[in-house]
Amino acid sequence: MTRKPSLNLRNTLVAVAALSLFAALLPPSATAAEPMAGGQMMIERAKILAQPNVFGVFTTFKLRPEWNRVPAAKRVMAADELKKLIEKHKNNVLVDVYLTRGLKASSDFLFRVNAYDLDKAQTFMREFRATGIGRNADVTETLVGLTKPLNYITKDKSPGLSAGLGSATYSGPPPRYVVVIPVKKNAEWWNLPAEQRLREMETHTSPTLAFLVNVKRKLYHSTGLDDTDFITYFETDDLGAFNNLMINLASVPENKFQVRVGSPTILGTIHSPEEVMKALAE
Ligand code: HEM
Repeated sequence: MTRKPSLNLRNTLVAVAALSLFAALLPPSATAAEPMAGGQMMIERAKILAQPNVFGVFTTFKLRPEWNRVPAAKRVMAADELKKLIEKHKNNVLVDVYLTRGLKASSDFLFRVNAYDLDKAQTFMREFRATGIGRNADVTETLVGLTKPLNYITKDKSPGLSAGLGSATYSGPPPRYVVVIPVKKNAEWWNLPAEQRLREMETHTSPTLAFLVNVKRKLYHSTGLDDTDFITYFETDDLGAFNNLMINLASVPENKFQVRVGSPTILGTIHSPEEVMKALAE
């Protein structure tokens, strides 16, 4: 005969079941990182893309004409080779690959590698250069930056805009396009009093909030790590809206402190790494 669980035990079982259900409903970013052998943590996409102190390495490649002379049977192996490399490094780096061929003269594809340690991103890129396709491609641009907590539009310094920033959500179709634009500011900017820089960044932010419904943004800081001050990264499905956003920002006074915007502007389409390699094997 099976015994009925006591009231206490039943309460405990109900509580455990409720907790398990709650954990199952949480987005992956909200669950704890899985510890790996040797104390390493698995890289979680949603988490690493939202955290400060994460390095971003952006590298564009142009395929050499020799790539077309590699037998087709070998070219198609590029997708599998990259997949295996990404798998090998999945506890150290998050890898995104974009197709720029046909949209940029200077490149065919772009890597964005996010990592908690810059040398891990370097190791991944070094090993990519040793793959079949990597050996047949030249680097045409590299940008290195670091994510940081907000400097200006915080709850304390700018409560209204901070609330607007926090409440706006992307509601367009899944973005098909990526745009990466390096930005450098002049010495005058860096010598402005903090209070004035805050006001300037508020005038930057005000007209941009309306665009968050169809543009996703991410900012990397590069001063001292590269020849630029910022790497701005955007995903959108509406390039017309993105064009309007840039025009809006061009007439904001903060624009006068920018001495480099683009050079290069990198425009590409968003695919899985294998899809990009397959397209380039054709
Ligand atoms: C959806 C559109 C955009 C929104 C909502 C937005 C919002 C913001 C916010 C809130 C900041 C301040 C971050 C902080 O407090 O530290 C910022 C900084 C910045 N934004 Fe935008 N932005 C947008 C588009 C753009 C575009 C198109 C560019 C130019 C390519 C750009 C370039 C920058 C740069 C360079 C900074 C850093 C400025 C500094 O710290 O001196 N943003 N943006």
